[in-house]
Amino acid sequence: MDKKTIKDIDLKNKRVLVRCDFNVPMDENQNITDNTRIVAALPTIKYLLENNCAIILCSHLGRPKGEFKPEFSLKPVAKELSKLLGKEVIMANDVIGEDAKTKASNLKNGEIMLLENVRFHREETDNDPEFAKKLASYADIFVDDAFGTAHRAHASNVGVAAYLPAVAGFLIEKELKFLGNAVSNPVRPFMAILGGAKVSDKIGVIDSLLDKVDTLMIGGGMAYTFFKAQGYEVGNSICELDKLDLAKEAMEKAKAKGVKLMLPVDTRVGKEYKPDTESKTVKCTEIPADWEGFDIGEETIKLYSEELRKAKTVVWNGPLGLFEFDQFAKGTNAIAKVLSEIDATTIIGGGDSAAAVRKAGLEDKMTHISTGGGASLEFLEGKTLPGIACLLDK
Ligand code: 3PG
Repeated sequence: MDKKTIKDIDLKNKRVLVRCDFNVPMDENQNITDNTRIVAALPTIKYLLENNCAIILCSHLGRPKGEFKPEFSLKPVAKELSKLLGKEVIMANDVIGEDAKTKASNLKNGEIMLLENVRFHREETDNDPEFAKKLASYADIFVDDAFGTAHRAHASNVGVAAYLPAVAGFLIEKELKFLGNAVSNPVRPFMAILGGAKVSDKIGVIDSLLDKVDTLMIGGGMAYTFFKAQGYEVGNSICELDKLDLAKEAMEKAKAKGVKLMLPVDTRVGKEYKPDTESKTVKCTEIPADWEGFDIGEETIKLYSEELRKAKTVVWNGPLGLFEFDQFAKGTNAIAKVLSEIDATTIIGGGDSAAAVRKAGLEDKMTHISTGGGASLEFLEGKTLPGIACLLDK
């Protein structure tokens, strides 16, 4: 990596501000339902503890839009982190207020505190320099470990880097290593599986991956836009009529580049958008008028699986069907299972595909599951991530 990490800077006995992405899912009672992002932050935090640092952690949670909203408090995260570390994590009641300031100035080496949700201030998302300066005033060094937020240019991940020496934590380093190697130096055959609802969300990554992969497999709701672009009817399936040209261009680019672009050959359709709706499998060229496509069909699973068994590197982003409903999770689960079995580097983009792999209990079988949803997508698109660009060069 061409950016400095915590290994490249003298941290011993320093005060360190660490931006984490503790944006974790919670139920209605503020119980954390998936602590992956907290666990992923532990290596950096432990390393700072070994170096006797005073550690001031900060993060956002959800989108409270500049207002204090108790349901977006990071208190449950402090509790979970404390449990995982077996050590007290001092929780501040605010971000730049009296409580945080006092707790930060009293913080001793070897102690950890967590600021409240930085998005309780609109200045965070505005990347306000004064707000960033106040955050930076707590510390001597800034460590960014919030890969999931790296595609945002906010005060707590980008603004603070103007005031403090800024380096990457181990999580960012690991994400860049796996995602970066996969796209810039893949062992071939290199294949990508892209799912999700919309072509418009994925067109950037489709375009970028078509320059790199040997095979690109399409699934999820966006497949129906591809069918429509070929002149087939898609019934009530999700379809972006204004994006047919993008789908056609992607198919043409694949042809010109010699990339094998695979589209589903059959699809599981349902009558209505509900878990127990009547369903059946039809050919993709024969979707009935009043039915809606919700998953790839058995024949497609077979074809995609056979292809994937030849892969040496696979990047997967986006579920292949409506995996939240069990009867339409078969395609996503089957592909996750194949990825767990093959002898290849398997990289799972964050967000829904990561959730699907976890739901299938296969997370330990993948080479790398990114903690970034939007961030991993933008990275794969080849975009510059502001949260990385602002860090010190090696
Ligand atoms: C995520 O969950 O993708 C990150 O935490 C970023 O959250 P945001 O989309 O609200 O900026």
